Amino acid sequence: MGEYKVKSVGILGAGVMGTGVAQKMAQCHYDVVLVDISNEILQKSLLTIKKNLMLNNMMKLSKFNVEETINKILLTTDCEELRDVDVVIENIPEKVDVKLNLYEKVSKICKQECIFMVNTSCIPISRIANALSFSDKVIGVHFLNPVPAQKISEVIKGNSTSEDTVVLTQEFLKSIDIESTVINDSPGFVTNRLSHLFMNEAANLVMEGIAEPEQIDLIFTKGFHHEMGPLHTADLIGIDTVVDSIDILYSYYHDSRYVCSPCLRKMVEKGELGIKSGKGFFIY
Ligand code: NAI
Repeated sequence: MGEYKVKSVGILGAGVMGTGVAQKMAQCHYDVVLVDISNEILQKSLLTIKKNLMLNNMMKLSKFNVEETINKILLTTDCEELRDVDVVIENIPEKVDVKLNLYEKVSKICKQECIFMVNTSCIPISRIANALSFSDKVIGVHFLNPVPAQKISEVIKGNSTSEDTVVLTQEFLKSIDIESTVINDSPGFVTNRLSHLFMNEAANLVMEGIAEPEQIDLIFTKGFHHEMGPLHTADLIGIDTVVDSIDILYSYYHDSRYVCSPCLRKMVEKGELGIKSGKGFFIY
């Protein structure tokens, strides 16, 4: 990675994505500082990582030293612990203001050379980067869920992201066995402009009683040779995150394609958030 060596990674948010990113980084021998707002969330995240590693070993998918991998991860609610990290990967909720507040705070703590990778579903990277004084060091890395199984990531260049930051990011992703492809900035990037249309329309099909969730996913997977149907994907992502993302797409494009399905909103009201709450379109 040229002159700048990445040894330690700060991860903001220990939810669905932060947990996966922390696991992947620790598996790849990086030192990890995992930050969230409560110790309870952090402990739950660590337990998930432990279970995933043990499951991997049991199924002979890979052979991890579970204790050694877990010990690479420092859990904390104190952002001051980020003072020495080389890269920050942010995975907090899909809300611009919430993300910006945290960037302002941690950038005062992190060292000057630190690179900030925004993991967002739909927010344009320049929307975040241009509000910060270090926009050349801000880049979008759209990690996909589940992160430990991820093979490719779209890397999003904001309009002020420096070439050095792009090169470092691509080398960093290569070091964790993730292929990357650099695209230009736009709300929803490539992945979510496509995938959220599928998920939203699948939810409309359920609402209209055209087919059951099982049938929709069956037709999609067998018909289009995808590994996962749109409704299972929505459950995996988290229905709340899907709704936030579709709303962001609508706020930028003002296009009826991105009007969020009332079915998804109702599920959020009922706390049916998908895998993370035990029930979504399917039961877990
Ligand atoms: P989540 O809701 O599962 O987790 C977010 C975590 O951030 C929570 O644990 C919350 O306590 C924590 N948090 C909130 N404020 C914080 C703060 N100030 N400091 C530290 N931690 C804080 O959300 P999820 O699904 O992990 O999404 C995170 C980001 O990644 C979002 O922007 C989302 O759009 C994006 N994303 C999500 C994907 C998915 O499949 N869920 C896929 C790719 C990107």
